[in-house]
Amino acid sequence: MIETLTELDTLRARVNGWKREGLRVGFVPTMGNLHAGHYSLVMLARQYADRVVSSVFVNPTQFGPNEDFTRYPRTPEADTTGLEGAGCDVLWLPTVESMYPFGIELAARINVPGVSSVLEGAHRPGHFDGVCTVVTRLFNQVQPDVAAFGKKDFQQLAVIRQMVTDLAVPIEILGGSIVRESDGLAMSSRNQYLTADERPRAAEIRRTLLAMREAMVGGQSLAAVEAEASRRLAEAGFEVDYAVVRRPDLGMLQDGSPGAKVSLVAARLGKTRLIDNLEW
Ligand code: PAF
Repeated sequence: MIETLTELDTLRARVNGWKREGLRVGFVPTMGNLHAGHYSLVMLARQYADRVVSSVFVNPTQFGPNEDFTRYPRTPEADTTGLEGAGCDVLWLPTVESMYPFGIELAARINVPGVSSVLEGAHRPGHFDGVCTVVTRLFNQVQPDVAAFGKKDFQQLAVIRQMVTDLAVPIEILGGSIVRESDGLAMSSRNQYLTADERPRAAEIRRTLLAMREAMVGGQSLAAVEAEASRRLAEAGFEVDYAVVRRPDLGMLQDGSPGAKVSLVAARLGKTRLIDNLEW
């Protein structure tokens, strides 16, 4: 039976009790409105830990002023049932007051330079500072041995890995595979903003990512691949923030660079901003 905790003292007592028994603790931070992608992270954490804590906290500091903080879907009952089914032991529900005891303006913030400032960081200024700030607080509250993050948020995972290394945070970071709908659309809480007309068109992002890989592997120039991806998405009705191919550390590529690559897209369809990526 999953236990829902809202008091930090109780959470600490539960986690400390497990650690005294020699159990490893896994952690999956979320913003709720959970889907199969989140549940796969709980199952992944379970493979590396004896107990799993998941948090639901819609973090105000990672949303920009014109973003969807107030309308972000909140579905606590369904989330609790789903987490229990996925094997989560504790659902941690912090309040805004407990997360930011000095208020948001005076909150200590974490900035990870470089990797935070490109792509998503360039289009959503301050976003990764908000993510790192809340993830650090959650890590300090839960004190897990291992934590799982989805690879759909490829850059978020890179930023968190860098933060953990840089600040010597003693937590192993796991990346969970992207979970997709049958037409290839990456699962996301924001997919439900799509209208009935937009929903089938949203799968064009995945097809574009696959075409980018094929064109790169086929020897086309980086500039041609990126331009064609943007053109293709615009033709399908998207407003494109970026459609790029990068090194896995998000550094720039040169034509003919060997080694692993990732194509990343962020694009808006109507009022919905979607991101996805493909590694090869
Ligand atoms: O990926 C998310 O859902 C959020 O960015 C996270 C990691 C829970 C921090 O609020």
